[in-house]
Amino acid sequence: MERYAEQTQQEFEGWEEFYSKMVDEKLDHFKSEGRLFDIIYAQQFDREFLDYLCNLADMIRGLAKTKMGQEKLRNLLPHKRAMLYFVQPSTRTFLSFQTACYILGLSVSETRGTTTSSEVKGESPEDTIRTFASYVDLIVCRHPQAGFAEKMAWVLNQTERPVPVLNGGSGPDQHPTQALLDIYTLEREFYNVGGLDGKKIAMVGDLRRGRTVRSLSYLMKNYKDVELYFVSPDIFRMKDDIKSFLEKHNIPFHETDDFESIMPTVDAIYMTRIQDEYAESPSGKAETHPEFHFKTKHLAMIQPHCVILHPLPRRYEIEVTVDKDPRAAYWRQERCGMWIRAALIAHIFGVEQEISNEFS
Ligand code: CP
Repeated sequence: MERYAEQTQQEFEGWEEFYSKMVDEKLDHFKSEGRLFDIIYAQQFDREFLDYLCNLADMIRGLAKTKMGQEKLRNLLPHKRAMLYFVQPSTRTFLSFQTACYILGLSVSETRGTTTSSEVKGESPEDTIRTFASYVDLIVCRHPQAGFAEKMAWVLNQTERPVPVLNGGSGPDQHPTQALLDIYTLEREFYNVGGLDGKKIAMVGDLRRGRTVRSLSYLMKNYKDVELYFVSPDIFRMKDDIKSFLEKHNIPFHETDDFESIMPTVDAIYMTRIQDEYAESPSGKAETHPEFHFKTKHLAMIQPHCVILHPLPRRYEIEVTVDKDPRAAYWRQERCGMWIRAALIAHIFGVEQEISNEFS
């Protein structure tokens, strides 16, 4: 067994060098014939693509309202198969990808842990992913390790069956398709107030280990005059790599631990959970930081158009009674994930024209 793992490692020599490159230097590696192929980093998306994808998601959403429209969508990709390789727990990302595949007619296989695959017998992740690629046309991957999806894309791109790899969350690093659904939600929620351009957005909670806020921060470079407020306990402050990126792109940001002070100012509040699955000590699992929770009394302090978001799952960061307020957008947000992921899959397989033809 060790021999095979070693052989795979030798075959794919060069990964460490590739992984250590600046993200901007390697984005072309994840394209095919000028189009996005693997989805690994939020930095892969520009404004044109984001606007286009939101529009495509709206079209899919519109078509799915009727039986005839649903049949048209299902007939787009019945010849394609997807694999959901989720070895870190997930409800929304897994289900929304699975449902997005069903909407477009793809058939879906899944593995939800390494204990039921031949990895138990010592098969390397590289060989495991190559095996998936033997049977399917698309792999969506969630993994506790940063860089895992990227490595799998890199491995497959050197084989005779380079199927697209979509990063469904890679450790505390990135969650690029969550950022897509967050943008789609924000644009929809701000539809009557000029869209996302010019808005003030607060990100609250565990910003250090929260991959959703990291990916969303990267996307802010695509929007005009956006201002960010990072609201967190000192130990969970946003990491320097994101702050350097924002500085480089002249995106103003403020850091504070006084949540209530910024509530009347901002247009959106993006709540996050303490990511204690990455805690370095058992005591780290008991932290709740109630001063960074959104409570019912706070509804009176925010603007009439302010949107409350959360990637979910929630624990106690938002009181359940807040859900009844129309500004609580997180249940709509998770549903947006299904539409934007369907749009992404439609784009990857090049069937977007068939969808837009339905509207011409
Ligand atoms: N937002 C999100 O990634 O949720 P899941 O962990 O349930 O997929």
